[in-house]
Amino acid sequence: MKLLKFDIIDSTNTYGKTNFDTLEDKTAIAADRQTHGKGRFNRVWVSENSENIYLSLILKPKNTQHIANFTQYMSVAAAKVLEEYDVVPRIKWPNDVLINHKKICGILSEGVLKNNKFEGLVLGIGINLNCDEQTIKNIDKPATSLNIETGEKINKEEFLKKLLKTFFENYEKAAECGFECFRQEYLGYADFLGKQIYIQNNDNDEKKQYFARDIDNQGNLVVVDEQNNEKVILSGDLIY
Ligand code: BTN
Repeated sequence: MKLLKFDIIDSTNTYGKTNFDTLEDKTAIAADRQTHGKGRFNRVWVSENSENIYLSLILKPKNTQHIANFTQYMSVAAAKVLEEYDVVPRIKWPNDVLINHKKICGILSEGVLKNNKFEGLVLGIGINLNCDEQTIKNIDKPATSLNIETGEKINKEEFLKKLLKTFFENYEKAAECGFECFRQEYLGYADFLGKQIYIQNNDNDEKKQYFARDIDNQGNLVVVDEQNNEKVILSGDLIY
């Protein structure tokens, strides 16, 4: 694994995509700040605080069949590391990590295609490690930071090392066998099952209400609608 570090960059994901062909498999790109941090659904990921994590991984697995599940695999890796700090992380489908119902970590994967074939992906993760209360209050959705949850400043380099180690520990296995291999671990962190939830496909979309029943072996959300019909949701934003 190679680690590239930047003081400031537009976005570690954009850098990864632009330089994908020349970057080796398992290259990690970390930045202290991003000027154009990107979130899911074209949202902005505020990236001004150099004490938080802004990281992207270049992944070029031989078997690209399970590539879509790496975001969920990363959410489990992040939850495992957060647990080492005596907090109780929970995963909100598909891959947000929350503490006390507030988001601490977001994951954005961008596939790279060549001649309509997957070459691999850039897997980006942002984690709030050290934020002040005011910055957190300015975020438009419930959010938190590890220092706020623990009452202590977090050593960023140490956290980053733990995260990379945890992610790459079982990476080959996850690449070969997909969600099925880490489903139980994922379910151990899931806090949306057995609840009434809403699914939205983007910020302007109508929210649809369902009962969250299960997660299938591919990592999809199995829900029941108001007419009692079972439905499998492949993507979207889950709202409580
Ligand atoms: C989300 O909307 O929840 C996903 C946020 C992902 C943010 C990370 S920070 C590192 C990487 N670079 C980006 O521009 N975005 C991701």
